[in-house]
Amino acid sequence: MEAKIKAILEEAKEKIERASSLTDAEELRVAFLGKKGKITSILKSMGSLSPEERKILGKAANQARNEVEELIGSKIEEMKELKKKMTLAAEKVDVTEPGKKFKIGVKHPIERTIEEISDIFQSMGYSIAEGPQVESVFNAFDALNSPEDHPSRDKTDTFYITENMVLRPHTSSVQIRTLLAQEPPIKVISPGRCFRCDTPDATHSPMFHQIEGIIVDQGITMADLKGTLDSMAKEYFGSDTRTKFRPHHFPFTEPSAEMDVLCFKCGGKGCRICKGSGWIEILGCGMVHPKVLEVGDIDTEKYTGFAFGMGIERVAMLKYGIDDIRLFYENDMRFIQQFK
Ligand code: DAH
Repeated sequence: MEAKIKAILEEAKEKIERASSLTDAEELRVAFLGKKGKITSILKSMGSLSPEERKILGKAANQARNEVEELIGSKIEEMKELKKKMTLAAEKVDVTEPGKKFKIGVKHPIERTIEEISDIFQSMGYSIAEGPQVESVFNAFDALNSPEDHPSRDKTDTFYITENMVLRPHTSSVQIRTLLAQEPPIKVISPGRCFRCDTPDATHSPMFHQIEGIIVDQGITMADLKGTLDSMAKEYFGSDTRTKFRPHHFPFTEPSAEMDVLCFKCGGKGCRICKGSGWIEILGCGMVHPKVLEVGDIDTEKYTGFAFGMGIERVAMLKYGIDDIRLFYENDMRFIQQFK
């Protein structure tokens, strides 16, 4: 048995020496000192020996156990130390290395146009309201005084989700939401997505953006409408921009008009961009129809208002000389990156 103890001790020493990780060391502790470990088993078997033998061999076995305990203990310490050093080395940061280059992105031209136009109106005291893209037929048509047989209500013009719900064909539906939610004075703009059953081509897209505006207060007149929209155009396109209002028809305004800006390409002489007319149409507008104000329970004897709606893509195309609306949606970085 003495020889066995010696052999176990030798084996333990050799294995401990070779252990090269914390796991190795832990495993050796189990293998030699654990409940079923080799040294533990020897100590357990001492019971069957005579008292003299037990004295001598017991001492040897205990010494072996102490020695192995100590060796494994210091091996574990050594391994822990090593692990710590390795972790520190791996986490080391060389602060002298050059930094990574970050490419700064650009705002999409549609987003940028919405922000620029919204800023202009906000500086005039308008606040921003948002409405859902899936809208009720009531808010999109009925409440806007649109006749039952108006072509824009056709299933070939507007996307219907159910009989009573549509993908909004214009942001004018937010006028109704605003009139139902607020009391005059009301002064709100609302940018957002709109949808119409159009086949995509250079100037049409089934999804596009508009910015809507509505103001309702005492004593609002057509002169306020003209002044506001003319200053917006000068602010956005440049201070020498000229505007012109042409009579038009919309169900939700009376009187109604369209605003044109003098073609900035040819200065009014007539060119490809303005299709020879010298003027470019940029928005629809008018005095809010009393029937629309009534939906919001607004006293039409006391209050008047004007409203307008403008295509975002259209003004962005004019301002930046973009000749195909589809470029906005293809997300070709070579196109988008030009709007730095
Ligand atoms: N909703 C109209 C359209 O999509 C634009 C418009 C015209 C809006 C006149 C208005 C307005 O608020 O007063 O073509």
